[in-house]
Amino acid sequence: MNNLVKMRKEGIGSYFHFENDQELLKDSTIDLNFNYKICYTGRHALLHILNEVTSSKQVSKIWFPNYYCQHTLHWIKKFHPVIHTYDVNPFEFPAEINISNFADSNDVVLINNYWGLSTMPKKSTATGAPLVIEDHSHGWLSKACLNSEADYCFVSLRKSLPIPLGGMYWQPNSSTNDIIHSKKNNNDLYEAWDLMVQAMKLKSKYVDGDETIETSTYLPLFYDVEEALNINSDFAELLDDHEDFIRSFINLDTKQLKNNNLDVLYSEIQDTPYFKVVKRPDHTAFGLLLLFKDEKEFNSLKSFLVSNGVYPSSLWPDNKIDYEWRYFLNLHIDFRYTTEDMEYIIETINKWLNNI
Ligand SMILES: Cc1ncc(COP(=O)(O)O)c(C=O)c1O
Repeated sequence: MNNLVKMRKEGIGSYFHFENDQELLKDSTIDLNFNYKICYTGRHALLHILNEVTSSKQVSKIWFPNYYCQHTLHWIKKFHPVIHTYDVNPFEFPAEINISNFADSNDVVLINNYWGLSTMPKKSTATGAPLVIEDHSHGWLSKACLNSEADYCFVSLRKSLPIPLGGMYWQPNSSTNDIIHSKKNNNDLYEAWDLMVQAMKLKSKYVDGDETIETSTYLPLFYDVEEALNINSDFAELLDDHEDFIRSFINLDTKQLKNNNLDVLYSEIQDTPYFKVVKRPDHTAFGLLLLFKDEKEFNSLKSFLVSNGVYPSSLWPDNKIDYEWRYFLNLHIDFRYTTEDMEYIIETINKWLNNI
């Protein structure tokens, strides 16, 4: 098969490399007008919030959606073992979650911003309304994230920014941030940071053409970091140079850069009998989101993409939901990629469509 558009060496998707491009932040930045705190991971941000809430008020039940990142849920259960779940359809918008259908006044409800497309609930004016925590990890800088009316918000920043680790939390509409920062050193997390930096730098060298490096040189290091994060549970005081590193990218307007790529993709990739394109007007999707009914076709496109150097993620395969359309692929379209990369994705998907 002759590709018209050339595939970039490292493929499309997978982990961020160490960013050497000083131009990146020149044209596309955004001010963050809320008072946030940074920590090492999204899950630590969530844990800070849950600990704060459960130690400051009587909490009856903690609710999570029944479709959520399995690693985060598993990790959080080490500290808050009893988590109740409520039903959501993570692929349909704008239906808003009606919290009062299941939660009582002493409950805490986690609402996930699915792929940046969700409508988040308006702040309840009722006294004693359940406390709301929003997860904007896949909707970083979405309007819902920036204008949230929740009691608390958090994100995993490393999903959007080229940083080794990073998460943040904040209290919308509050000028103070009551959550107490942990003062502990945690060498496991510092080692995970260093390992991630090493992996990102190796990947950068590979991208820049260093022939002594193969993908197999750096990929295992990335996987080791994920493993370490799943195991490690302690809080860690954020080291100053790590905080500086995270802050050096924090104003990058990743959403604006995604929009350009999504426009190119949406003009060519539409719903087919095999997949639906999950998107919403005036919203920026986390990636090119393809939803399948048939697991065989889902696997077939996924393998075809991988064999052509496009590495999508499946979100989240361990979740069991009862919808007809439920096999979900996310193709990465972030600031690393150009219009030419989008043309390559279009061409690859069209080839698959022509052969199925
Ligand atoms: C929606 C969502 N929230 C939170 C997290 C946790 O983020 P981190 O890996 O930074 O702990 C993840 C996945 O990792 C996620 O997918």
